[in-house]
Amino acid sequence: MMVAVYDDEVMKISSFCPRHRLLALLLLSGLSWLTAAAQSAPRPNAQLASKPVNLRVDALLKQMTLDEKIGQLVQYAAGYATGPGASNLKYDELAARGQLGSMLNVTGAEATNHYQHLAVEKSRLHIPILFGQDVIHGHRTTFPVPLALAASWDPAAVETVARFGATEARADGIAWVFSPMVDIARDPRWGRIVESAGEDPYLGSALARAWVHGYQQDDLSRPDSAAVSVKHFAAYGAAIAGRDYNATDMSEITLRQVYLEPYRAAVEAGAATLMSSFNSINGIPATANPFTLTQVLRNEWGFDGFVVSDWGAVAELRNHSIGDGPTVARKALEAGVDMDMEGGLYSTVIAAQVRSGAIPESVVDEAVRRILRVKFALGLFDNPYTPAGPAYDATPERRAAARKVAEETFVLLKNDAAGAGPLLPLTAKAQKVALIGPLADAPAEMLGAWAVTGDPKYAVTLKTALAARLGDRLLYAKGCGLLSGEDANVLERASFTDQPVAAAELPIPDDEKTIAEAVETAKKADLVILALGESASWMEGEAASRAYLGFTGTQQKLLEAVSATGKPVILIVLAGRPLEIKWAAEHVPAILEAWSPGIEAGPALVDVLFGDVNPSGKLPSSLPRAVGQEPLYYAQLPTGRPAHGDLSHMPRNSAERFVSRYMDEDNAALYPFGWGLSYTRFRYGQPTISRGEVPRRELLASGHRPMVKVGIDVKNTGSVAGTEVVQLYIRNTAASVEQPVRELKGFIRVALAPGESKHVELPLGFDELSFYNVDLQRIVEPTTYKIWVGGSSLATAETSLTVTE
Ligand code: BGC
Repeated sequence: MMVAVYDDEVMKISSFCPRHRLLALLLLSGLSWLTAAAQSAPRPNAQLASKPVNLRVDALLKQMTLDEKIGQLVQYAAGYATGPGASNLKYDELAARGQLGSMLNVTGAEATNHYQHLAVEKSRLHIPILFGQDVIHGHRTTFPVPLALAASWDPAAVETVARFGATEARADGIAWVFSPMVDIARDPRWGRIVESAGEDPYLGSALARAWVHGYQQDDLSRPDSAAVSVKHFAAYGAAIAGRDYNATDMSEITLRQVYLEPYRAAVEAGAATLMSSFNSINGIPATANPFTLTQVLRNEWGFDGFVVSDWGAVAELRNHSIGDGPTVARKALEAGVDMDMEGGLYSTVIAAQVRSGAIPESVVDEAVRRILRVKFALGLFDNPYTPAGPAYDATPERRAAARKVAEETFVLLKNDAAGAGPLLPLTAKAQKVALIGPLADAPAEMLGAWAVTGDPKYAVTLKTALAARLGDRLLYAKGCGLLSGEDANVLERASFTDQPVAAAELPIPDDEKTIAEAVETAKKADLVILALGESASWMEGEAASRAYLGFTGTQQKLLEAVSATGKPVILIVLAGRPLEIKWAAEHVPAILEAWSPGIEAGPALVDVLFGDVNPSGKLPSSLPRAVGQEPLYYAQLPTGRPAHGDLSHMPRNSAERFVSRYMDEDNAALYPFGWGLSYTRFRYGQPTISRGEVPRRELLASGHRPMVKVGIDVKNTGSVAGTEVVQLYIRNTAASVEQPVRELKGFIRVALAPGESKHVELPLGFDELSFYNVDLQRIVEPTTYKIWVGGSSLATAETSLTVTE
């Protein structure tokens, strides 16, 4: 359905902010908030809705033949493959015929300009190709993986990464990035948790907005902006049993309240495109799902951009048993998938159906219109080519940014040498240090799961950075490989043809010997730093689900053998997902969660280990005690038989019999959501609330405006400066639909000098307090909210807010 309302009038009085724009719409229309929302959704991206863009689109569309139109709906990969069965077509010919609307995985000015010249100069209507690529955590400059970035709880850091990504991508001819991935991920068996912001919709939404603003800069026409593709729409992260590509099945309330929220945030922030997901949602494949793709995305959220399928997902609809090729292509197109990525189905089966009348041509026209809008808004018709620039180099400026961001992502899980006080930070004249582990000196592994254009040659390892600091006071032993000889099945699964496992990552044949050598190295040192985890190259990311969440190979043996020397051990966990590290939590005095930190891994880690930088990261994902607890997340729904073990909202086991618990393990996370220590201590005062009561009517009429402020004093009581992430959680104590036992509804990073105290205020309004009722309306009801403020999801400083009739 084409909404023929252009946004220019609204734009004049509202700038780009969707909230102001909604207000402007209301002023113009003279309607009440509720009536207006029901009648026409706000247009969240003014450029895509603008009159000049749409007039140009309509004029061009009128001249296009059916084949040219369908040409705009296809996308092929020339270059490398990021999925199975890449097509191998005559792309030069397709481009020259105007039948190659988009390409992916073609990188660099020379390669992109080659195809662009054919499309723009040879094709009848001179329509430029849109080049897209996975720019996920930086482009040439590799930053920490998205899950790590989420651990910074810092939207500004995310914007920085997006800015670098967009600028470097544009220099390579790529105006469209397949990022951000905003799938809520509550199960670390799913390898793609590494690309997510973790388990929480509030944190996920805040970071989704930051990604969109960072890439698009609220102006697609800038030469250093890139259009985003928010993925994977929708609910891909809820794959049953954590197995990639698997079905999802959940109530519509959960879908809307948890899983769709970050997508909505990204669309409201102006996202130009979305990517549909591989999974089905409640029995309907996401790539042929009119409910999510049309009802929610376009009718409710007012999205004017286009939707691309995931790799081959349109053709794979046949495997979902919903029809043959022509049928599934029609279903996908009619549901709202505008572009077919590497499926080859739109290009072969749509035209005949249009000619036979099975698909109205207006459906094709609408998809073309959406795609052309983005091309016009990006300025591709006016500036289709990429100027040749200097070859990429990891300049000091890029390195400094990568290092600063990485430093914010590390989470100090534990720092307690029983009786002897904290083990970290290391003192400047730190004694002899033994660095041990397969990830201590593995540059490629520092880059993380989605560094397609990253280069390991730029990665500085922990060994290199520590050697620079300690000189000959550093001893080193690898200890073992990331896999053992017994992991043949993992190796076999990892070595799919176009991405063989590198020799350096293969198991060490005799790791009993190398573990023994590591133990000897440890004995010669005063303390040990162990760098363990999993392979970022082939155990994280897409198609990398795991049934076990421990350290891979013989790393656990190495950990236990080194710990048995009695030397103090600092464990650095390098992984793209929460691993199961219960043994370490019980036996190792200091643990730093470091994820996959990017090219500045070593220097950033050394800064934090020596206390030049105080760690400030907080977990965006609960760390389990056992894989059997998964999916484990703090915002659980209540049960009639809760276990009453301790004060936390996710209690440890109690002696009671008929309660919701495991017989053989606690309910609680090993380290909960929001957890992270510092080298200093923070003291929280008593929270205050600007109004203890708010009438429901007032909240309903308030739109996005904050209605109350929760205030709290936070003091740094230690002797070093530090940054605390102050977090606010609520619980609705009387709702018509049961609400989670806790929900994050506010956070802020606060930097504090030693002894310094700051008053922090966190707003609450309709956005934070509302939920979906059984009629799927977003509402507030008379109730009392418990409110906690603190440094993790275990926060205890409490106040409350009552909503009256
Ligand atoms: C992934 C997407 C990615 C696409 C293009 C797919 O296999 O699921 O996340 O953007 O490939 O590389």
